[in-house]
Amino acid sequence: MSKADLIVGLQWGDEGKGKIVDHMAQTHDYVCRFAGGHNAGHTIVINGKKYALHLIPSGVLNAKAKNIVGNGVVLSPKDFIIEMEQFDDLKGRLFLSDKAHVLLPYHALIDQAKERMKGDKAIGTTGKGIGPAYGDKIARVGHRLGELLNPEKLTAKILAYFEQNKAIFAAMEVETPKEADLLAELEGYKAVLGAHIVDTTQLMWKIMDEDKKILLEGAQGTMLDIDHGTYPYVTSSTTVASGACAGLGINPKDIGKVTGIAKAYCTRVGNGPFPSEDFGDEGDRLRKAGHEFGTTTGRPRRCGWFDAVAMRHAVRVNGVDQVSLMKLDVLDGFKEVKVCVAYEVDGKEIDYVPYELEDATPIYKSFPGWDKTEGVQDFDKLPDTAKSYIKALEEMIGTKMGIISTSPERADTIIR
Ligand code: GDP
Ligand code: IMO
Ligand code: MG
Repeated sequence: MSKADLIVGLQWGDEGKGKIVDHMAQTHDYVCRFAGGHNAGHTIVINGKKYALHLIPSGVLNAKAKNIVGNGVVLSPKDFIIEMEQFDDLKGRLFLSDKAHVLLPYHALIDQAKERMKGDKAIGTTGKGIGPAYGDKIARVGHRLGELLNPEKLTAKILAYFEQNKAIFAAMEVETPKEADLLAELEGYKAVLGAHIVDTTQLMWKIMDEDKKILLEGAQGTMLDIDHGTYPYVTSSTTVASGACAGLGINPKDIGKVTGIAKAYCTRVGNGPFPSEDFGDEGDRLRKAGHEFGTTTGRPRRCGWFDAVAMRHAVRVNGVDQVSLMKLDVLDGFKEVKVCVAYEVDGKEIDYVPYELEDATPIYKSFPGWDKTEGVQDFDKLPDTAKSYIKALEEMIGTKMGIISTSPERADTIIR
């Protein structure tokens, strides 16, 4: 029986998970998403051509790999269908869990209305409806993908839901859909998605029993996890390794090698604490060199330095076996590269993530920079100062950096 390899984000998302999932998909039979929704944006570049994936697993660009979207996901049929249109060969290689929750347009409207009402306390969500869809799931009033197979019954259920929540919908200025329109919409979804909806838990067990090579694709990052991130400035799902079990119906013993994805610096999109954020020229330079603008919303990402304290937290929470260090090339040409090695809270130095990360001031250590790592495919060919930076990070976080990425291209990946 095979164990599943796991890819998980270790920072605030956008670490470069898509690139590594795509790279590893070449040697895996199945790629499976276990959490999040189309708030995610995973970019893959192959021979100069760029693909942006949101919910379809990043194995899809590999003709051989089959793709599973697990029960832990919230799926917007409308957006998923648009995403599917990029590919014409999905029959028999895309499986959607009948237990995944359906995200409908009103979830997005509620998300946006709630953000507006929060004013300067807004989370800075992607506005895609993720929080309201997971909220419905946990409140046990959500709709599962399996229900799409019976559009009449689901229409009645959704209309009853609108009736029960009419005060809330009115406050949010969300109109009740007309029955005929809703039915037609759901029938349209069924026509495209129906053939892909299966019991993916049984499928997971079957392919493990058949000894298939399985890769689990995380979305978002550890610091956006609903429990282990910077609450309430987080997303609404379990983004960490343990989410893969609940989100696919597998058990902890089914998990094999855990690869954590981390940038050689740090970014965050949306609001919330980010101790090593650089508000000056260096932050700007990172944003420009790293093209740090969101794949999903196009928002500029906040940029700063590698945070070794938050990284140790992430390594432990996820049980990381190796780190894949991304975007080393973005630091090319910096005279000095900084790393946050500890925090100061109330005049005391600490080496862990405190209850309120907002209260933490970073303590930095500087490392000498280097000229160029871009496109390097061999560890020995990296400049000595870049190698020393990587080794220092490894020591600080107690984990090997087994993969190093030096450009968006699939091929520019060092495996050690
Ligand atoms: P994900 O959400 O974790 O999959 O990451 P995103 O795709 O949102 O953001 C990562 C961005 O960095 C994408 O535009 C990638 O093409 C790009 N990228 C990935 N690895 C590297 C790298 O090593 N160097 C550079 N310069 N860009 C990279
Ligand atoms: P990938 O998979 C970066 C952030 C949003 C916001 C917070 C809550 O590409 O790494 P939500 O819409 O989920 O309710 O927003 O989470 N966020 C991400 N940031 N990468 C992502 O995904 C994200 N998905 C959500 O910006 O701060
Ligand atoms: Mg992304």
